Amino acid sequence: MSPLRKKSTYRVAVVGATGAVGTEMIEVLEERNFPVEVLLPLASSRSVGGTVTFRGEDIPVQLLTKDSLDKIDIALFSAGADVSREYAPIAAEQGAVVIDNSAAWRMDPNVPLVVPEVNRDDLTRHKGIIANPNCSTIQMVVALKPLHDQARVKRIVVTTFQSVSGTGKEAMDELMEECKDLLSFKEPTPKVYPYQIAFNCLPHIDDFLPSGYTKEEMKLVHETRKIMGDESIQITATTVRVPVYVSHSEAVNIETERKLTAHEARAVLSAAPGVLVFDDPSRKLYPMPLDAAGKDVVYVGRVREDGSIPHGLNLWVVADNLRKGAALNAVQIAECLVQ
Ligand SMILES: NC(=O)c1ccc[n+]([C@@H]2O[C@H](COP(=O)([O-])OP(=O)(O)OC[C@H]3O[C@@H](n4cnc5c(N)ncnc54)[C@H](OP(=O)(O)O)[C@@H]3O)[C@@H](O)[C@H]2O)c1
Repeated sequence: MSPLRKKSTYRVAVVGATGAVGTEMIEVLEERNFPVEVLLPLASSRSVGGTVTFRGEDIPVQLLTKDSLDKIDIALFSAGADVSREYAPIAAEQGAVVIDNSAAWRMDPNVPLVVPEVNRDDLTRHKGIIANPNCSTIQMVVALKPLHDQARVKRIVVTTFQSVSGTGKEAMDELMEECKDLLSFKEPTPKVYPYQIAFNCLPHIDDFLPSGYTKEEMKLVHETRKIMGDESIQITATTVRVPVYVSHSEAVNIETERKLTAHEARAVLSAAPGVLVFDDPSRKLYPMPLDAAGKDVVYVGRVREDGSIPHGLNLWVVADNLRKGAALNAVQIAECLVQ
């Protein structure tokens, strides 16, 4: 397992190339003109026979096997944790650097968990596998790291409003089908979610733990501490699935060691990489999922001082979960490796 050998162009595999994230990865690689020599789209037997389009060319989707990743330089994985657990070590052993979107490796102490705007230096200690954080974590840390550097964030209380694309393409289809059914006075039949998601909100993302929290909520706790490099930050989360197609929104309350006014926080965030402050209530300007969909930046609005504690702030943070929350962050990691 060696670091990436610098070349002018790279052989790139996308594992899960037909999924919601994989499709976006291929688009982002093309848009950002990543130096791709060969693109290898891999998926399950369900997709063999189909193609993906890259730089105007239709490329056949191939079945992922133990031999597929031989001679690959960079493997972008987004086919779920089971696939990553089985195939990422094989790819790394064969000389590829794996950038994995699943939860399989994120909390492994030997695997860096990276958001380039926050902790790109952690990439230097990779051993062949690099983890991409959970979508809801990425957008939160992009917004909070600059405030942490300025005033030290002691505590975070976050509530998320997460789109169905965060669950994948079948969930996007389910929302559409349920809307069609309901508008034709038919009873919807949920398959992906335990209840109807159309015109509803589910305070349930990923499995419940004995503590009563969900795994998604605990990802926000553990991943944020690992990426920010500060185990002392106190974090509590409630994650909610909402009937939105793309973009997650988050109501974030923070308590800082040093006082930051709302004005100072806006100034710090305006200068921060990857953040766009969109905050003018007098003109009804605040970020919404529809604004963020298809965009690369993390939007921050509704910045207010929390009068209930001495050093508190409230923020509303919105980003495209398929781009900054997944595909874009993974490609940005790849860009750091080849720079
Ligand atoms: N959606 C998000 O916002 C988001 C954000 C961050 C991380 N992630 C993570 O990214 C991963 C993929 O999510 P997604 O939303 O893109 O899901 P998705 O739309 O359901 O796509 C899953 C992809 O994985 C492929 N796949 C499934 N089983 C496979 C197997 N045994 N061998 C090879 N390929 C297989 C599928 O291929 P077929 O089409 O052939 O079945 C498809 O290309 C998950 O680990 C998820 O947690 C998602």
